[in-house]
Amino acid sequence: MAEEKSAPQQADGEALENLLHEGRQFPPSDQFAANAVAKPSLYAEAESAGTEFWARQAREMLTWEKDFEQTLDWSEAPFAKWFVGGKVNAAYNALDRHVEAGNGDRVAINFEGEPGDVRQITYAELTDLVKQAANAFESLGVGKGDRVAIYLPMIPEAVVSMLACARIGAVHSVVFGGFSSDALRNRIDDAEAKLVVTADGTYRRGNPSSLKPAVDEALSDGKSTIEHVLVVQRNEEPVDWTEGRDLWWHDTVAKAGKDHTAVGHDSEHPLYILYTSGTTGKPKGILHTTGGYLTQTAFTHKTVFDLKPEQDVYWCAADIGWVTGHSYITYGPLLNGASVVMYEGTPDTPHRGRWWEIVEKYKVSILYAAPTAIRTMMKWGDDIPAKYDLSSLRVLGSVGEPINPEAWMWYRKVIGSGRTPVVDTWWQTETGAIMISPLPGVTEAKPGAAQAALPGINADVVDESGQSVPNGSGGYLVIREPWPAMLRGIWGDPQRYKDTYWSRFEGMYFAGDGAKRDEDGDIWLLGRVDDVMNISGHRLSTTEIESALVSHAAVAESAVVGANDETTGQAVVAFVILRGEDAKKFTAEGADTSEIVADLRNHVGREIGPIAKPRQVLIVSELPKTRSGKIMRRLLKDVAENREVGDVSTLADTSVMNQITEGLKK
Ligand code: WT7
Repeated sequence: MAEEKSAPQQADGEALENLLHEGRQFPPSDQFAANAVAKPSLYAEAESAGTEFWARQAREMLTWEKDFEQTLDWSEAPFAKWFVGGKVNAAYNALDRHVEAGNGDRVAINFEGEPGDVRQITYAELTDLVKQAANAFESLGVGKGDRVAIYLPMIPEAVVSMLACARIGAVHSVVFGGFSSDALRNRIDDAEAKLVVTADGTYRRGNPSSLKPAVDEALSDGKSTIEHVLVVQRNEEPVDWTEGRDLWWHDTVAKAGKDHTAVGHDSEHPLYILYTSGTTGKPKGILHTTGGYLTQTAFTHKTVFDLKPEQDVYWCAADIGWVTGHSYITYGPLLNGASVVMYEGTPDTPHRGRWWEIVEKYKVSILYAAPTAIRTMMKWGDDIPAKYDLSSLRVLGSVGEPINPEAWMWYRKVIGSGRTPVVDTWWQTETGAIMISPLPGVTEAKPGAAQAALPGINADVVDESGQSVPNGSGGYLVIREPWPAMLRGIWGDPQRYKDTYWSRFEGMYFAGDGAKRDEDGDIWLLGRVDDVMNISGHRLSTTEIESALVSHAAVAESAVVGANDETTGQAVVAFVILRGEDAKKFTAEGADTSEIVADLRNHVGREIGPIAKPRQVLIVSELPKTRSGKIMRRLLKDVAENREVGDVSTLADTSVMNQITEGLKK
C-alpha cells in the first residue's frame, strides 16, 4: 500500500483547491493487476478502434438475435442510434442464455429481507419467474411498447417485473417506493402507463410500512390510464381492494405458465423511462433504449468492478428506484451472470452492523455504495465493522456524489482492510452507465477523484466558451462523443432534451457538473453547477421543492437551496414568505414558527416524498432578487451555510439580505 503523503482534506469550500495537490496514490497490488479483467492496454485499444471499440464490446457482451449493420448513426444528432439493425432481447441475455450455458444453478439473487427472511433465487428459477411474469403481463393486455409503472420495495419482484417488461418489449418506469402518491400519479400520467406493479408494503426500521394506499390514492379519481394494479404480498398488512382493477401477484403471476419465448427487439427499442429532477419543476422522463444501454452496463460492470462471475458475490446497496439500481442491480450484473445480494431494509435495523453482517454472511466480494452511507457508518464508529469478517471484500465502489478524501480513506482502510481498490464512479441517470472511473487493476487511485474517462468515453473539462481547460484548472464537465448507453431523449419532449443537454456548448453533452483537472490531468468532480441538489446521492431540484411549498395555502413565495451537510452531502434549506394576515406574526421578534415549519415540512413530504423534506425552513419577509426578478440563491446559500453573505450589488434592493440575516438572528 502506498504511503500517506499529505494531511486529510475536506472536499468542500476553499479546501477544493487543495484537492489539486492530493499526494496520496494507491496503485493496485501486483497480484490484483495481474488477474484483473481490464488491462492497461484497454485504453489504447479503445483509442485506436474509435467507435468500433463499442461494436466489439456489443458483440462480446451480448448475444444478438440479429447482428447489427451499423455501429452508430449520429446523422440526426443529438439523437443517436447505436447498433443499427440489430435485434436483441435484454431478458434473454440476462437470464436464458446463462441457463443454456449450464449456469442455471448459479445464484442470481441472494435476497435478505429486513426482518431477516431470505430467498435464494438461481438463474434457472429467475428465468422461470420472469417468463411467468411476462405471460401474466401479456394476459393483462400489456404489449410491446406499452408502459408499466413499477412501484415496489427492494424485493426480487422488482427485478422480475423489470425483466418481464424487457422480455415482451414493454417499457418500464420504476418509481422509487419513497415517492408520494402525487409523484407516482404524475409519472403514470406522463408515461400513460397501463399497469402498476406494487406491493402491500415493505418493512422499515423493524415495522411494516405500506405502499398500496399510495397507489390507491394516486388512482382515486378513476381517470388515470392505469387498467390494472398487480400487488405483491410482502408484509401481509390489510389493504383496500378495487375489484376488477386489483390483482394479487400470487394469483396472477405465480399461476402463469413457465413457457415464454423471448424474441429480439430492435436495438433502439425503448427499454425504460426513469424520471429524474431537472432545473424546472417537472421531472424529466429519461429514455433509455436496448442495445447500447445493455452493452455499456455489461461492459462497465465487468471492467470497473473486475467481475469474475463464477467467484464473486456482488452487492450494490442502492434502491431499484434510482438508475444505480437499474444499471448495477438488474442489468449489468445479470447480463454478466453475477450473483447479487439484494437487501430490503435500512442499514441500522435491527442494529448498526447490519451491512457488515450481510457482507460476512454472503461473503460479499464487491460492494457498491454511496458516500452518504459511507460517511454515516464512519460516524457510527470503527468498532462496528471491526466485529465482522470483511475479508471477502476485494473491490469497493462509490457513486452518487463526490466522495470526500476522508470518507474514501476510511472506506479503503476500515472496510477494505487497506488493500482493496476503491473505484469512485461518476455517471448520471442520463448517461445510463459509468463514464468516469478508475479501473481497479490499472489506475493509481487518488482518494476523492473519479480520475479518468473509461475506455471508449470522451469526457473533458471546458471553460465558459467550450475550450478545454489546461491541467490545474476548473470548468464544466462535458462529453465530447456519443456513447452507447446515452439517453435517447426526454419522454415526450425532444426540445427539452436538446435545450437541457446540447445547447450550452456546441456539439457537446453538458452534464451540469463542475469539474477540475489536476496537474496529472485527472478529473475531480465538484458538484452541480445548476439548480439541482444532491441529497444523500439523490437528485432533487430546488424548483420542484419550491413548487411544493408554494402549493401550501399559507405560502406566498419560497426559495430553496442545497446547503452543505456533513452526512447527506447537501441538505434542503427553504426560505419561505407566508401570505395573508398571519404572515407578519411569524416574522416578528420571538415568534414561534415551530408549528408552521413542521406543517410545511410534512407538506413537502406528502407532495414529493420524505427525502425532499427540508432540513430547515426559515420564515422570512423578503427574498433577495436581481432587478430582473431572479432569486439570488447564492446569497441564501451563504446564509444557510453560516457564511458571510457575498456580493449583494446586483440586488434590486440591497437591504434585503440585512433583513434576512437580522431576522434570523432574532
Ligand atoms: C449526478 C447524477 C450515477 C447514479 C446515481 C446518481 C452526481 C454521481 C458522482 C461521483 C461526483 C457524482 C453528479 C451527477 N454524481 N456520481 N462519483 N462523483 N458526483 O444519479 O441522480 O442522475 O445524479 O450525481 O452531480 O450529475 P443521478
